[in-house]
Amino acid sequence: MRKLGVNVDHVATLRQARRGRFPSPVVAAGICEVAGCDSIVCHLREDRRHIQDSDVYQLKNSVRILNLEMATSDEIVEIAIKVAPAQVTLVPEKRQELTTEGGLDVAGNRKRLGEIVKLFHERKITVSMFVEPELEQIDASREVGADAVEIHTGRYAEYFEKYQQDQCYRELGRISKAAEYALSTGLKVHAGHGLDYRNIIPVLKIQQIEEFNIGYSIICKALFTGLFEAVREMAQLIKKAEK
Ligand code: PXP
Repeated sequence: MRKLGVNVDHVATLRQARRGRFPSPVVAAGICEVAGCDSIVCHLREDRRHIQDSDVYQLKNSVRILNLEMATSDEIVEIAIKVAPAQVTLVPEKRQELTTEGGLDVAGNRKRLGEIVKLFHERKITVSMFVEPELEQIDASREVGADAVEIHTGRYAEYFEKYQQDQCYRELGRISKAAEYALSTGLKVHAGHGLDYRNIIPVLKIQQIEEFNIGYSIICKALFTGLFEAVREMAQLIKKAEK
C-alpha cells in the first residue's frame, strides 16, 4: 500500500506570524493522522523559521510515525539523535532559500553522509536521502547505506505550473527512470516537493514510488475548504449577539 506523509511546517509558518501558540502543528498532525495519512513530516530548519525544537519533541511524542526533514549540520544531527524520530530525510539547506531548492549532493559528501547514516542506524532510525532524479545520487545513496531516496519533484512541479509541457514530460521521465533504478538497487522510493492535487496524477503512475511527502498544497487547500465555515461561524456569532 502506498503512503502519504503530510508536512505540517506551514501550520507553524502561520503560528510564527504571531509568535503565539495557535495554530499548533501538533494539533494539525493529529487531524492529519485521523484523516488517513501515514506519517507526519516536519523540517527543523537551522533558522527556526517555522517548526521550533519544542514542536519536534511534541510531535515525536504524539504522532505514530515522525519523519524529520533535516540538514546535516552538527547541531541538527545532535537534536535528531535526541528526538529519535522513526525516520529522517536528509536535505540540503540554504539560509536564503524560500524552501528546499535542490537535492542533496550525496555523491560529493559520501564520507560525512555515511557517518551520519551509521549514527541513525545504530538508533534504528530509517534514513532517506532527498535527491535529484540522477542515477549518480542514487548509487551514492545506496553506497552510504541509506534505506530510501526521496526523489525531488520540485522542478517537475514548476514546469507543470508554467504549462511547459516538453520540460514537464522530460522531468517526469527522469523521475520515473530514477525511481525504477533506485528500487532495482534495493532502495525504497519516496517522492516530494511541490506536489499538488493536479500535478500528482501523472506521478502516481510511477509504481515504484511508495511514499509521497506533501505539505504546502494540503495546508493551502485546508485554508480554503475551511474558510467558509470559519467565516460563517464568526458572522453568526456577531449577528446573533444582542445589541
Ligand atoms: N519533501 C522534502 C524533502 C521537502 O523539503 C519538502 C518541503 O519542506 C517537501 C517534501 C514538501 O514539499 P511541499 O511543501 O512543496 O509539498
